[in-house]
Amino acid sequence: MKKFNVVFVGGGSTYTPDMMELMCLVKETFPVKKIVLYDNDEERQEPIGQYGEVLFREYYPELEEYVYTTDKATAFKDMDFAFVQIRAGGLPMREQDEKIPLKYGVIGQETCGPGGFAYGIRSVLAMKDLIEDIRRYSPDTWILNYSNPAAIVAEACKLLFPDDHRIINICDVAIDIMDVFCPLADKKRQDVEPRYFGLNHFGWFTALYDKETGEDVLPTILQELLSGNASDKLGFTAKNDDYWNFTFNHLEKMVKDYPYSLPNTYMQYYLYPQEMVEHSDPNYTRANYVMDNREKNVFAYCREIVKLGKMKGTKHDLDLRYGENADNETEKASVANNDAHATYIIELAESLAYNKHDIFLLMVKNDGVIPNVEEGMMLEVACRVGSYGAQPLAYGPIGTFEKGLLESQYAYEKLTVEATLEGSYQKCLQALAVNRTVVDTDLAKTILDEYIEANGQYFPTFS
Ligand code: G6P
Ligand code: MN
Repeated sequence: MKKFNVVFVGGGSTYTPDMMELMCLVKETFPVKKIVLYDNDEERQEPIGQYGEVLFREYYPELEEYVYTTDKATAFKDMDFAFVQIRAGGLPMREQDEKIPLKYGVIGQETCGPGGFAYGIRSVLAMKDLIEDIRRYSPDTWILNYSNPAAIVAEACKLLFPDDHRIINICDVAIDIMDVFCPLADKKRQDVEPRYFGLNHFGWFTALYDKETGEDVLPTILQELLSGNASDKLGFTAKNDDYWNFTFNHLEKMVKDYPYSLPNTYMQYYLYPQEMVEHSDPNYTRANYVMDNREKNVFAYCREIVKLGKMKGTKHDLDLRYGENADNETEKASVANNDAHATYIIELAESLAYNKHDIFLLMVKNDGVIPNVEEGMMLEVACRVGSYGAQPLAYGPIGTFEKGLLESQYAYEKLTVEATLEGSYQKCLQALAVNRTVVDTDLAKTILDEYIEANGQYFPTFS
């Protein structure tokens, strides 16, 4: 089996420890020679990098090389895969993204509404530089990107690197929805093949075909959601996180109002903005929660293991946490409480590496996939994945309601990217005004001006 070189970009991300642990668990099916962590924030990456030393020494002795670095040449030379998860501006800027609109009663969310706009501007600039750097050293690396807001990043990649089919933008949330809801039809995610369309964090499942029988199990799942017992049956508390519990429960309401498809959970921000604003605390947003919980826990975990100098034989032993007798009560299986995040991107890498032709939900250009929306729209749809890259499955025409929503959301995304690359204040304003969470021009201006102020050097000069 060919062995690969892999770089994790955003080595200081709270998701990196899970990714590294998973690399140990999949070493039979996805063997690697070399793992590199890269981050531009040396201090942040350090404890995670040191944690990797302990982890790999014990669980991946076959690994020929492991380094963590802030040097681009070391990080990007001779790479087969770059797993990218960067957060331009970090969590402190996420907090601003969320809090500024909430002051005015507008959705304050990482990727939806104005928050996604501000984060999008920072991300487009950071991703442009990063991809240019990677390509300087590894022209053929598969760049698998998780960085948000993925819809806007994908649109920018299309414009900036139009011929580069080895940049693939992926999101875990649609796949996560399959993991959570397929059990309502007594299925697992792996048993079904999805049909889904939309933009990232903005789409709908319209079929889930049983891989064996070809039967569509989505109607069964919708029926269960409509009956109102889904949350009892599924026990969402498994995620151990109020935000996600609320969000998955809320899907039930969306299905009751639109009972013919299964929406992406993020549709709640666009279809129920008032309820979502009322549910938010303008003084303590998701960014605060993540900083106080996941971020603290992950860094504490890494530091503890570095101090111990070992994992085997301690409560952190991977066999205890992921093995057959894993005790999920005492020690969370995943440090970031989101191991699915790591699983999906590695599954994607395997399909690319070994030409497996599996189906993934990915962001690709509309080249006749949906004939009644704009050509070139960066859709999130089912794609077949092999060594040739991601090939979308034809979807067909969509209904008026979804078409209307998609077109205005895409106009917002496109305007955000153009505004960033052209430094256009006018396009920023248009982007916010066309977004259905904002609408009002005066409000758009107020939010925009505060974002420009708060983002300083992260933003280009808009004129
Ligand atoms: C899901 C989405 C990501 C998003 C994350 C936020 O995984 O697909 O795009 O970044 O949720 O999670 P958080 O715990 O940081 O709010
Ligand atoms: Mn996502």
